[in-house]
Amino acid sequence: MKMSNQELHAQFGPKLTGPLPGPKAKAAVEADSRYISPSYTRSYPLVAKRGKGLRVEDVDGNVFLDFAAGIAVNSTGHCHPEVVAAIQQQAAELIHISGTDFYDEHLTNLAAKLSEIAPMRGPHKVFYGNSGAEAVECALKLARYHTGRQQVIAFLGAFHGRTMGALSLTASKPQQKRRFSPLVPGVTHIRYPYAYRGCTGGPQEEEAYALGCARYIEEKLFKTILAPEEVAAIFVEPIQGEGGYIVAPTIFMRELRKICDRHGILLVADEVQSGAGRTGKWWAIEHTGVEPDIVCMAKGIASGMPLGICMSKASVMDWVPGSHASTFGGNPISIASALATIEILNNGAIANAAKVGAMILDRLNGWKKTHPMVGDVRGRGLMIGIELVKDKGTREPVPAVRNRVEYLAFEKGLIILGCGETSIRLCPPLIVSEEEATVALDILEEALTMAEEKFESTSAPVVAKS
Ligand SMILES: Cc1ncc(COP(=O)(O)O)c(C=O)c1O
Repeated sequence: MKMSNQELHAQFGPKLTGPLPGPKAKAAVEADSRYISPSYTRSYPLVAKRGKGLRVEDVDGNVFLDFAAGIAVNSTGHCHPEVVAAIQQQAAELIHISGTDFYDEHLTNLAAKLSEIAPMRGPHKVFYGNSGAEAVECALKLARYHTGRQQVIAFLGAFHGRTMGALSLTASKPQQKRRFSPLVPGVTHIRYPYAYRGCTGGPQEEEAYALGCARYIEEKLFKTILAPEEVAAIFVEPIQGEGGYIVAPTIFMRELRKICDRHGILLVADEVQSGAGRTGKWWAIEHTGVEPDIVCMAKGIASGMPLGICMSKASVMDWVPGSHASTFGGNPISIASALATIEILNNGAIANAAKVGAMILDRLNGWKKTHPMVGDVRGRGLMIGIELVKDKGTREPVPAVRNRVEYLAFEKGLIILGCGETSIRLCPPLIVSEEEATVALDILEEALTMAEEKFESTSAPVVAKS
């Protein structure tokens, strides 16, 4: 029997004990401001204590529905029992040995699994680090080493991490680079096919725009400032993450591949956020049929344990001992967690991401008609962006409204994050149920409606009273 909406919310919805933040959360936020680096960007005072599946309980006993998954990391949900068991078992057996200086079967066990699910044909080789940025650093160094070339191409809006090499590729927000120059030289940024902001009109124009973005490389860059034989790699997120959950059209990715093939350039897919099944396939690039030469993985691959992986075609990873290494990279506990994660993802979670993601997108697409500020809805699987605008004609960004929606959702017990200048991202664990998704969207819609109404009333022209 179908549940009523009320029953659905009672069973699957958040449970709040009082106004937020509660007293313990307030104290935690205060302590944080005393000790913790002020460089972090918190949108609201969520202070998590424990998590299970889609639910996060805070220090005051409030239970939230999590549609942010620790920035697209908790792919199997919070504390999946199989992941917890794998971690516990490994912790009791061996915590660290360092694959850099000693042989370790854990490294090869996971590499063999990754080789089975890689987005390019094998044989493959794998380098282990601890984060997304480290996976990207490795890819950058490897691309230079293998090709003997120095230049790289990346895209405006890209986020590849914050260590100096990865930061040099990042082009998401000025604050991420402010006062940190000089960065690694040799990076040229060009337009990403962000059709919603690049062109108006239908899909035809979208594709033409995307193709133009890719062709700019040969038609402009290679004829003006970059000698193609000096370019080592093109770094691309098949779906831009921090940049706004923007899907690169297939035609764009295929053109990049062709350009790389014509000039001996490596194509690096940064799948740190879009990978590990999030889009309903193992890797977002698989939706385009394009095979990269190098792929960067992190976030969801180990369900929250730190692990960054740079995987390449075996022929590309030809550097010699001493070229690159990491003391902690490929830690046995992170690997145990990754192996358990891969099992769970293969056994239904990726298929679920495709199914529930389609259901969410379907409902959100309706909001483009019913909500005055929903300008664009896009994504694949459970990597979904909603771009808010002041006016659908001008597409003027409204970051303040987006931030308000985030905060209102939090106050109603839904955890979401923003991305890009004016978008909301939805990236729940891949095990999310249709019921949980329905409840989350109900809450999000309430928050959105409140923010839109507030915007309407504050921006209405003031009528002079007589
Ligand atoms: C596409 C992409 N690459 C790299 C990174 C950096 O990962 P980390 O924060 O683990 O260093 C991120 C993080 O958001 C990302 O989204």
